[in-house]
Amino acid sequence: MSTLSGINASSILVLGATGKTGRRVTDLLGPAARPASRSASTRFDWAVPDTWEPAVAGTTAIYVVPPENPVLLADFVPVAVKAGVTRLVLLSMRGAPNDDPFESAIKESGAEWTILRPTWFMQNFDEDIFAPSVQQGALAVPAGQGVHPFIDVVDIAEVAVVALTRPGHHGQTYDLSGPEAVSFTEVLTRITAVTGSPVSYADIAPEEFAAAMRGLGYPDEIADLVTMLLVRIRTGEEAHLSDGVQRVLGREPRTFADYLGSSKFA
Ligand SMILES: NC(=O)c1ccc[n+]([C@@H]2O[C@H](COP(=O)([O-])OP(=O)(O)OC[C@H]3O[C@@H](n4cnc5c(N)ncnc54)[C@H](OP(=O)(O)O)[C@@H]3O)[C@@H](O)[C@H]2O)c1
Repeated sequence: MSTLSGINASSILVLGATGKTGRRVTDLLGPAARPASRSASTRFDWAVPDTWEPAVAGTTAIYVVPPENPVLLADFVPVAVKAGVTRLVLLSMRGAPNDDPFESAIKESGAEWTILRPTWFMQNFDEDIFAPSVQQGALAVPAGQGVHPFIDVVDIAEVAVVALTRPGHHGQTYDLSGPEAVSFTEVLTRITAVTGSPVSYADIAPEEFAAAMRGLGYPDEIADLVTMLLVRIRTGEEAHLSDGVQRVLGREPRTFADYLGSSKFA
């Protein structure tokens, strides 16, 4: 991506700035970014509305990693628009319904908006939900031998930065996927080829997986949502590719090999 010029310092608020996508959006934006979260340099806490206004003051665009509760997003958006924000880019997810309350809050903001609907992230295997199991050598999920076009979050961050900084993306909902649909068995084989440490795959019942997530402290809604999304991989509903990366970036999405080369496995 070309470097950003003509954008004021600290003028783009990046929510979730310490997370998987926000961290990369922040890096790509450079001085234009104002990284925000509970632990970032700008304090922003969804649970503490008093932190919202100081965080948005002086910004004109926001990368929105949403809270778990859509009501908080609907409350936050008018605060941002009142403060002068004119562009919102939301990280949503593949399969979100068209009346999704998170997406509706953004679309009804009065600001320019872009929605990103990515597939499951490749980085889940080394930075998030699947990482502890992969490290321990055994992953159990209810995805059967279904295949899915996992996406490298680098691509999501690049698409977000284009939508945040360039014209022509207002009113667009971009479906984003990786270039190839692969099964969990294949993913683990490829990880093992890089690390040399075998990781077994077990296809478990959805109820067993949801219970395991609750046991790890995930709230019921999140455990049920993640389980439902994995079952959609099992049933083949999530195998199709999407072309949002090509449409926005004019290049093919990063491959699983690209991801592995820049992951903690390398
Ligand atoms: N993982 C996937 O495969 C996948 C696929 C599609 C869509 N998504 C969507 O991606 C989103 C998560 O994005 P991500 O993966 O980039 O983030 P992430 O890695 O899950 O990190 C979460 C970020 O949110 C911040 N945060 C947590 N609680 C907060 C609070 N109360 N107030 C303010 N900030 C808070 C965290 O920072 P602090 O702890 O410093 O506050 C962190 O920066 C979710 O909405 C999910 O639905 C994920």
